[in-house]
This record gives sequence, C-alpha cells and structure tokens, in this order.
Amino acid sequence: MSELSQNETYTHGHHPSVVTQHSRRTAEEAARFLLPKLQPGMNLLDVGCGPGSITAGLAKYVDPGNVIGIDADSGVLETARDLNHGVSNLRFAEGDVYALPFEDDSFDVAYAHQLMQHLGDPAAALREMGRVVRSGGFVAARDSDYQTMICHPRTEEIEEWRALYTEVVRRNGADANAGRRIPAWFNHAGFNQIEVSTTVAMMRDSAELLNWGDSWAERVTNSKLADQALAYGLANQSDLERIATGWRDWARNEEALFLFVHVEGLAAVS
Ligand SMILES: C[S@@+](CC[C@H](N)C(=O)[O-])C[C@H]1O[C@@H](n2cnc3c(N)ncnc32)[C@H](O)[C@@H]1O
Repeated sequence: MSELSQNETYTHGHHPSVVTQHSRRTAEEAARFLLPKLQPGMNLLDVGCGPGSITAGLAKYVDPGNVIGIDADSGVLETARDLNHGVSNLRFAEGDVYALPFEDDSFDVAYAHQLMQHLGDPAAALREMGRVVRSGGFVAARDSDYQTMICHPRTEEIEEWRALYTEVVRRNGADANAGRRIPAWFNHAGFNQIEVSTTVAMMRDSAELLNWGDSWAERVTNSKLADQALAYGLANQSDLERIATGWRDWARNEEALFLFVHVEGLAAVS
C-alpha cells in the first residue's frame, strides 16, 4: 500500500489468493444496481478498483466514454493493466479515495465496490467521490456484511474465522459489517437523494464452493489477514491451520451452501 491512504491498513492485502478471487467479479453481478443509470458516453470512476475486472466490465456500458480505475496500491494496478489490456476506453491510476487526483465535476459516475468496509471514514470517502461528480451524476457504493453470512452446515471453524476476520478489521479501524451502514454513511456524506437496495450472493455449485472454501483456507494461512491475526495476538499458527482445514472440509460437504447480503447505495449528485 502506498503512503496515500492516511496510514489505513487494507485488511485483505494483495496476496495472489486475494487478487485472484477479486478478479472473478463482474460488473453484471457487482454493479447491477448501477447499470440502469449508465449510458454510452458517460465518464466513470471506479475507486478501489483492485484487479479491475468490474472496471473493465463497466467500460463496455459507457463506451465511448472513459473509465478510470483508481487504487491506492500500485502493485494491484499492474495486475489490472495486464488483465485488462486492450480495453480502449479504460485506464488505471494510483490514487487515494480521500484525496482523488481529479478536478471537481470530472465524472458522470463514481463507484466503489467493497471499499467502504476497509475505510476508517467511509462518509469522507463518499463525500470526496461526490466532489468529482458533476451535478446530475451518481455516486454508487456496494458492500457486503459479514454478519449476514450463512454457512451451511454450520462449522465451529468458520464461525471462528468470521469472528477473527471481524476483529482484525475492527483493529484496522474499519467495519466488516459495512453493508448495514451504507445508508447512514451516504447520509453523513451529505447526499439526500439516495436509493438503497440489497442483493444476496449465494453459492451452491460445487466448483464455486470449492473455489470459495479453498481460497479462504489459503487466505487465512498465507495472506496479510494471517500476518495481522498473528501480529495482533488473536490467533496462533495452529489456530489458522485448523480454520483452513475447516474451510476445506466444509467446501467438500455435499450439503454445503453459502450466502450473504450486500447493501447498495446510489445517490444523485445535486
Ligand atoms: C476489497 S478490494 C475491492 C477491489 C474491487 N473493487 C473489487 O470489488 O473486486 C478493495 C481495494 O481498495 C483499495 N483501497 C484501500 N484503501 C484505499 C484508498 N484509501 N483509496 C483507494 N483505494 C483503496 C485496496 O488496495 C483494494 O485493492
């Protein structure tokens, strides 16, 4: 992470197990609530774009308008450029959501997916996104809410993972249960025309469950989440390995099902 982001800690970090998972996301799933507002020729900013699969998907909807993906981490932006090479109306740049490197009114839309849950001051971030959007444009954000995650069959290890993850995020000054706070954060940012919606993500397909379970098994042992859990004294290595085994076993259970709620905020800029 660069020095740009007010010394906040991005809990996931950018281990390949994290970035690979994020690069599976699509605009159709992650920005469905926003798509009806998009028109060809609009200029769109995707803040905290990560590996940019959603950003590239959004570029199709506004072509020939321009799309810029901004992230505070230069390494993940290199991945984004490699993965999305050849999309002509798309570029990526380093930047901090709290101090976007753009003039007022530069965009028609500013969007952020799964960013607010990592920030110490989401309302300030939304306010800054609103600054760079012209009057009549939109600010959009979507975040998940870890407390809403239903994991069937219930396992002690995955409950332990949820508590551990939530506490690491809390120590980093953010809230893993961000989804429920989206409407309030938009209000605190000063927006008054806000549409709020929800979507439920569900995994039932065995390939999807294996990907999800094995990915979290790797993340809880090898990513920055593991480093922070150990550094904060919240778990030891054998705890993390036990949680990882729990994820792998659960993903292979023939009854396995996972679902969770996302909350979406969409504000018209006046
Ligand atoms: C959970 S990832 C989401 C990536 C992408 N939006 C997606 O949904 O796949 C959050 C991203 O926000 C970036 N980020 C964290 N703090 C930031 C900040 N203050 N300004 C800009 N980007 C930030 C991280 O580097 C990370 O790539």
